[in-house]
Amino acid sequence: MSMGRSGALKANSFPMATTLDLPVSEFAADVWAGLTAANQKKLPPKYFYDDLGSKLFEAITLLPEYELSRADERLLARCAGSVASRLRYPCVVAELGSGSGKKTNHILGAIHIPGLKYYPIDVSSEALSACSRELGKLATVEVINGDYFQGLECLDRRRPDQSQLLLLFLGSTIGNLERSEQHDFLCEVRGRLRPGDLFLVGADLVKDVDRMLAAYDDPTNVTAAFNLNLLARMNRELQADFDLRCFVHEAVWNRVERRIEMHLISREDQDARVGALDLTVHFRAGESIWTESSHKFTMEELKALAEDSGFKVLDSWSDSEWPFAETLWQA
Ligand code: SAH
Ligand code: AVI
Repeated sequence: MSMGRSGALKANSFPMATTLDLPVSEFAADVWAGLTAANQKKLPPKYFYDDLGSKLFEAITLLPEYELSRADERLLARCAGSVASRLRYPCVVAELGSGSGKKTNHILGAIHIPGLKYYPIDVSSEALSACSRELGKLATVEVINGDYFQGLECLDRRRPDQSQLLLLFLGSTIGNLERSEQHDFLCEVRGRLRPGDLFLVGADLVKDVDRMLAAYDDPTNVTAAFNLNLLARMNRELQADFDLRCFVHEAVWNRVERRIEMHLISREDQDARVGALDLTVHFRAGESIWTESSHKFTMEELKALAEDSGFKVLDSWSDSEWPFAETLWQA
């Protein structure tokens, strides 16, 4: 499939080929690729986060089973002073996949610099609005609505020449990258930082399988709604006709890859139309769409990831109630 710089797909990549170039969204292009895959149907997890998806994620963070967010927050409260003490004036703070930024208040609150600028980078405009409301009292918030690397590019143009950057990547969002992508992703982040910049990464650690599974399959079905909303989003934005009642949420632990995988399983043999792509997708009973991987880490693995991608590990903190780690790296 061919894609121009603006994300425009050539219409003749699709079966309803015409000779015209039609602008097709990146979402449409990824849905096309993911649902026509020969073996495993798959969709990138970043599409969970439309307005409703971002709100559903916020609800997940309140679930008693999803202790991950509270562990992250406890650690941020603990390490904020130490992280802040390593910053020199002038400095700026940015965050990859900030979401609502609820936990970031601990970090911003510990940096006592008048006029501090904070740049949350996120694909979700709903999350960024919540983030501005949440953190506007602690810093001057300049939102960047886009993908991680578009965001870092934009940040590089906006940050003052001599400033030190503290970049945050919290909540174990690093775990949503495939293991094979993590190293390249971190090298690319490193390539966009300047020597001396700091990178604070929060990552969920391997723990008891039942606790991990419960965190992704809660009895109130909030996580199921978050997962199914991906089908609803295709219905809303791509004129699809997925019947949400004909799919079921599934979370499984992949012991070899050390990750929770979320899937949407087709309850029966069925076809779904994606109007915007003029595409009919067939599902066999029991067939899945793989919607997310949440990799879990060990401390040694995090250290190796940092060093192999050109960072030095300065410090790390871990939570024993819900094994989770905050690690501070320097470019
Ligand atoms: N950091 C927050 C939110 C985590 S949810 C926390 O720890 O609670 C993941 C966030 O990353 C969502 O807000 C989502 O919109 C954003 N996101 C996912 N993929 C992204 C991408 N490729 N580029 C930018 N933001 C992304
Ligand atoms: C954002 N990310 C780290 C979450 C996770 O745990 O993988 C998203 C999520 N998926 C299901 N519940 C939460």
